[in-house]
Amino acid sequence: MADKDGNILAKDYGLGIAPPLRPFPVKGMSSAGWGMQRRLSEIFADDGRTIMLAFDHGYILGSTAGLERLDLTIPSIMADADCLMATRGALRTCIPANHRKAVALRCTADGSVLKDDMSRGVPAVDVEDAIRLNASCMAVQCFIGSDGELDSLRNLAYYVNAGEKYNIPVLGVVAVGKEMERTSRYFAMATRLLAEHGAHIIKTYYCDNFEQITAACPVPIVIAGGKKIPERDALEMAYRAISEGAAGVDMGRNVLQSACPQAMLKAIRMVVHEDATPEEAYHAYELWQEDLK
Ligand code: R5P
Repeated sequence: MADKDGNILAKDYGLGIAPPLRPFPVKGMSSAGWGMQRRLSEIFADDGRTIMLAFDHGYILGSTAGLERLDLTIPSIMADADCLMATRGALRTCIPANHRKAVALRCTADGSVLKDDMSRGVPAVDVEDAIRLNASCMAVQCFIGSDGELDSLRNLAYYVNAGEKYNIPVLGVVAVGKEMERTSRYFAMATRLLAEHGAHIIKTYYCDNFEQITAACPVPIVIAGGKKIPERDALEMAYRAISEGAAGVDMGRNVLQSACPQAMLKAIRMVVHEDATPEEAYHAYELWQEDLK
């Protein structure tokens, strides 16, 4: 019980000093609730940017290159990531709970690549389970313009409503099915549409006129890595995206299938958080790659 007597009297009231104004660094989230801002701060560093390491693609692809032994791979390379994007199955079984990273929890089930149409996803993770796993945000795949568009928007609405209730942000993922457009016009519309429906962060592909897309999207955009391309090109893509207003990257295969995933993440960190050019980052990648052999 607190002591009633013998306490030192309060005297340091900072009279005349205005409460500090602390602008919140995540785009569009200045008036979000405290818990929402707390979770966004786990994902985004003080510069308003983030590096997400995506290893959730096993949820549609199964074990593909780089995903074979998540229990060995991810803990050994994740130091330079800000956030881990994973399914609950991978998280529980392969990632030690005492890690200090944010978690973007893959929440929808969208079928497997064996099916032609993956656009009719369903909410697979209850918001209560996201809370139990202490998710920093909930990721929802959205197939805009597909036959399952309304299913996607229903899923998004479910997670946004639950997220607003419990102050958990939602990461709206712009999905591109086999037959779907991959034009700037499409990405501009899809990103804006997900933000209008309440997504707090958007994941999409880098494309031409990207600056216009980030400008018109009221919340942060992180770019997807997509299929493996040469390391130098992936760093160039990240650089361009950041220079054109992206708040970060959410890369999987371009890290995990790199010749040296750990060096690749370090190089991405230089581009995202240290404003390095692709040349500088690639040079550092090559040196780290040698060192880490
Ligand atoms: C969508 O977000 C997918 O699950 C991605 O395929 C996954 O996150 C892996 O990312 P990447 O396309 O960079 O390999």
